[in-house]
Amino acid sequence: MKLFEDKVVLITGGGTGIGKATASAFIAKGAKVVITGRRQSVLEKTTHELGELAYSIVGDICKKEEPKRIIDEVISKYGRLDVLVNNAGMGTMGPLSETRDEDIENMYRTNVFAPLALIREAMTHLVSSKGTVVNITSTMSHGVMPGSAAYASSKAALDHATRLLAAELGPSNVRVNAIAPGFTMTDISAGVQSDEQMLGMIVAQTPLGRPGEPEDIANAVLLLADSRAGWITGQIVQAGGGLML
Ligand SMILES: NC(=O)c1ccc[n+]([C@@H]2O[C@H](COP(=O)([O-])OP(=O)(O)OC[C@H]3O[C@@H](n4cnc5c(N)ncnc54)[C@H](OP(=O)(O)O)[C@@H]3O)[C@@H](O)[C@H]2O)c1
Repeated sequence: MKLFEDKVVLITGGGTGIGKATASAFIAKGAKVVITGRRQSVLEKTTHELGELAYSIVGDICKKEEPKRIIDEVISKYGRLDVLVNNAGMGTMGPLSETRDEDIENMYRTNVFAPLALIREAMTHLVSSKGTVVNITSTMSHGVMPGSAAYASSKAALDHATRLLAAELGPSNVRVNAIAPGFTMTDISAGVQSDEQMLGMIVAQTPLGRPGEPEDIANAVLLLADSRAGWITGQIVQAGGGLML
């Protein structure tokens, strides 16, 4: 029997990057995986690549009614939910003086509001399955990098919500943890990837001496979701090759 056989996993932003690699890793261990995102064409392509254990739901998690609709659809399709991976996120960098209200609002809606609303809507199902939540935050949430006030503070909010919800849901046997990725080669970091000097600087500051790959983060998510991590809750585990320790 595979490690996650008969388990149902929901991964927001599962069409690309870290979410897609995480979906693939769970499927390799036998899980049924639901991925979400706003772009239907991206989700269709990824679902096709992932095969019959994958299912997709198109939706913008920032819209108030969407978290409930997404959870309801997972339950009506599979009847249970074992692992919620709050992976979808967005970030724009730049000095606060050049950051618009809508950028700040978007980051907080995507990185804080939506994960909290999804956990709330998933709660009764996670209690039934003695399930678990893995939030994807960022090493930037505790680093001090000028130009990242809105993004990094939104991820810091999710870090702390992880600890608070671990305490709140622990008595119901639901574990809540976070993986904080360091620099990882995905769409969100494309700007830095094309800036040789910047990329070189980040790699130089990474003790393990290379950028992260989506699979590095996926493997870390599976470690926390595994029942062998059953005594671990409220932890923010950095997966960044030692960047910003
Ligand atoms: N890559 C890095 O260096 C790095 C470092 C630290 C943390 N992270 C975090 O890792 C997570 C995954 O990012 P990634 O690196 O894999 O980049 P990515 O490929 O750009 O993934 C982001 C995903 O989130 C989805 N998404 C964004 N806004 C959404 C919304 N409103 N509703 C539904 N889905 C939404 C996107 O799909 P649609 O556009 O189709 O909606 C996309 O699939 C993010 O939380 C990011 O902050 C990344």
